[in-house]
Amino acid sequence: MAERPYIVGNWKMNGTRAMLSEARAIDRAAQRYMKVEVAVAPPYTLIHAVHKEAEQIGIGAQDCHSGAEGAHTGDINASMVADAGAKFVILGHSERRQDHAETNELINAKIESALEAGLRVILCCGESLETRDAGEAESFVLGQLRAALPIFQDPADRLTIAYEPIWAIGTGRTATAEDIAAMHRAIRALLDETFGEDVSAKVRILYGGSVKPDNAREILAVPEVGGALVGGASLSAENFLGIVVGASEAEEV
Ligand code: PGA
Repeated sequence: MAERPYIVGNWKMNGTRAMLSEARAIDRAAQRYMKVEVAVAPPYTLIHAVHKEAEQIGIGAQDCHSGAEGAHTGDINASMVADAGAKFVILGHSERRQDHAETNELINAKIESALEAGLRVILCCGESLETRDAGEAESFVLGQLRAALPIFQDPADRLTIAYEPIWAIGTGRTATAEDIAAMHRAIRALLDETFGEDVSAKVRILYGGSVKPDNAREILAVPEVGGALVGGASLSAENFLGIVVGASEAEEV
């Protein structure tokens, strides 16, 4: 990892106020690993509370609506999550794509509105096992990105990509270091082509999918990997901090 590693916890649909003690523990420990940038995306209901507790870690949302305020019952837009204290938003997660039929076009609209609201964006991409077995993983992932990357808003240093093979999410399976490196190189080439090398160099590419304390160091030592997006293991401060430690050790290799 050349740049400051970025370790982001995605709590998904987990967490009540009882989880604030985990957030506090993560925040306190993050102050000891300043070489690693640590962030957490709790559910909407906890964004403000975690933001008030946290001194060191970044707080983000797991999604936002693409529109301005208005008649959209149950939805929350980018300026609302920013107002609650979020500094970034995760967009295009495979669970959103699957559970809510989110298309690349919708994800693109969300990215534009999030950047306009001043948020940083973590754009997720990743292929199914079927697509990988068919030898189409790279073209599929690059197609997702080509269709979703922002056109109107300059991403400058506010964009992060998370490559998360769907078959590795929550399954205990991880991609091999070679497959991760190859996909990250392909994504980097697309970013260079789309934004130019200077802007692309500021975009970190994270890996996600069953990252745990015991595999973090190996994954994060892959030179193309700029950090990790962590689901299950981010729900316990102990496990999540094991990954932060792995990142700080991988940095020293
Ligand atoms: P996991 O989830 O770490 O539980 O596999 C990763 C993610 O979905 O971001």
